[in-house]
Amino acid sequence: MEEKHAQSVEEKPAQWEPRIVAFLCNWCSYAGADLAGTSRLQYPPNTRTIRVPCAGRVNPLFIIRALMHGADGVLVSGCHPGDCHYLEGNYLARRRFALLKSLLEYLGIEEGRVQFAWVSASEGGKFAQVVTEVTESVRKLGPAQRLVRAREQEVAS
Ligand code: FES
Repeated sequence: MEEKHAQSVEEKPAQWEPRIVAFLCNWCSYAGADLAGTSRLQYPPNTRTIRVPCAGRVNPLFIIRALMHGADGVLVSGCHPGDCHYLEGNYLARRRFALLKSLLEYLGIEEGRVQFAWVSASEGGKFAQVVTEVTESVRKLGPAQRLVRAREQEVAS
């Protein structure tokens, strides 16, 4: 494990910046991101946001595909438990995420590349903090190559 991490750090190009895809629930986390912006809170500009109606709408394949197509990390963020506008979407997302973690581990994706967080519309500060933590965690891991290479081999064959 230690050796694998050391290897990915060595492969980092000098100007490399993590690319993180953030799936944000429209009702809470996206609004939290908006609040962080309007409050002029500082956080790393490494995320590309995809607004989804609910965290429960995020199919685990979206996450795998993001990693296959060059994302170094993925954040899924939705309403706090009990606050989902579709009642149970965030519980569904949490269950899926727990299962996906085992699959990612099996595929050799390091823990920390894919993260899940609850952020409400009033938590601009928390959103900025979550994005900062996710960015730093992915930065430490280095570029995600594993699924990109698998995709390139698949395309070549
Ligand atoms: Fe936000 Fe479901 S509406 S997680």
